[in-house]
Amino acid sequence: MSDCSKQKCAALAAVVLAAGKGTRMKSNVAKVLHPIMGRPIISYVLDTLTAVQANPQVIVVGHAAETVREACGPDYIYALQAEQRGTGHAVQTAIPSLDGFSGNVLIVSGDMPLVTPEVWQNLIELHVREGNEFTLLTARSEAHRDFGRIVRQADGQAVRIVEARDCTPEEYALTEVNLGAYCASADFLREMLPLLGSNNAQGELYLTDLVGLGHAHGKRIGAMITPDIECAMGVNSRADLAQAGTVIKARVLRSLMLSGVTVLDPGSTWVEPSVTVGRDTVILPGTVLQGKTSIGEACQIGPNTQITDSSVGAGSTVTHSVLWQAKTAGGAKIGPFAYLRPGTVLEDNVKVGDFVEIKNSNIAAGTKVPHLTYIGDADVGSNTNIGCGTITCNYDGQSKHRTFIGDHVFIGSNTSLVAPVRVESGAKTGAGAVVTKDVAAESVVVGIPAHPLRHTNTEQS
Ligand code: UD1
Ligand code: CA
Repeated sequence: MSDCSKQKCAALAAVVLAAGKGTRMKSNVAKVLHPIMGRPIISYVLDTLTAVQANPQVIVVGHAAETVREACGPDYIYALQAEQRGTGHAVQTAIPSLDGFSGNVLIVSGDMPLVTPEVWQNLIELHVREGNEFTLLTARSEAHRDFGRIVRQADGQAVRIVEARDCTPEEYALTEVNLGAYCASADFLREMLPLLGSNNAQGELYLTDLVGLGHAHGKRIGAMITPDIECAMGVNSRADLAQAGTVIKARVLRSLMLSGVTVLDPGSTWVEPSVTVGRDTVILPGTVLQGKTSIGEACQIGPNTQITDSSVGAGSTVTHSVLWQAKTAGGAKIGPFAYLRPGTVLEDNVKVGDFVEIKNSNIAAGTKVPHLTYIGDADVGSNTNIGCGTITCNYDGQSKHRTFIGDHVFIGSNTSLVAPVRVESGAKTGAGAVVTKDVAAESVVVGIPAHPLRHTNTEQS
């Protein structure tokens, strides 16, 4: 994306800091790309900024710049901070991308996935109402001992941020901390950022020094104390990652419940934010719903079920099963212990029972596959019954072949269908048949290899 002067810029922009290494993650993967509930940490930050209509959003990249750029995609402006010389330097790097923009700029670390749109909205409102040039988000916390401390003067005005490692003992004892989310006027940033120095414990350009600098230059600086301390969490370690996941998970489940979904045991239920669930669906314990999954209305899902990138139609039940890139229409009865693999498509009211595996197959309405069966690369018609122990032998050791089974077919128990093979509508196979040749409509085959069943004809004998 080009710089801002070439676009229609709204009055709100954002800068997301994501150039740091994230050393404490002990990882080869860039910190902001570690997933929380299936999505990179930074995607939560970007989505929230989009929700408050910050546009453009400039992402400052450095460490693993290319992978971050690839993961976030083309909707953002990227500013390369080749050498990480501090948060102030990072914002300096972003400023040329905001050329021609003169509104307010939200600034936040890419590792703060829990800031909500409400918190941003409140910060922006305070910033505008007080006529500030720089407003920071703070909280009272005795837990965040490594965060910068807010120094206020006698009248309550915030005049300085001191990083924990630069604190005097008196400053260290302060309990109002800097959360690392800011709203600044673009002009203020342009004027003040060049004045930053690096006379501090880390020898870096601190963004936080803008408070002291701004104050010294007579700028209006504001600080909003949020009671939502949860939103402040930055992900710095794997433990933080799990904790942030817990918070996001709770938010997802809460919003599902508000929309009319019953979640029997939120503690053991994992639903990623990308999943949609229809009202009156009941989610039982031990259920994991991931990726681009949609569950219709009035379903019963679980217990102990994992559904990934799949859709389940209204009124279905899925019990103790795994679905992966599968689609079921309405009224499906899946499980217990079914495994639906990619390319499985079930039409209305299909039953797939225990110890059944299906992949790359279409199964038409009303068909039943009740037990101990493998259906691979098959097209099965409607109202057909697949007997216990049926196997489509789809692989001959070299390539895969399809099996066709028509409507109203009865496949006897323990039938092997050696593909490519067709069993036409209304046909039947006997128990234990090994079907190697096509079976005509309405006929019956039995045996190994299967042959048409001849009725004993007394007139000929
Ligand atoms: C920062 C704040 C601190 C605040 C804390 C809250 C400063 C100097 N301090 O400290 O007051 O309490 O956040 O979490 O800002 N980054 C870059 N380029 C750089 C340096 C950092 O992009 O050159 C990015 C990092 O990737 C990270 C973010 O900026 O996403 C914050 O940097 P970090 O070094 O973690 O700052 P903190 O020490 O946490
Ligand atoms: Ca940090």
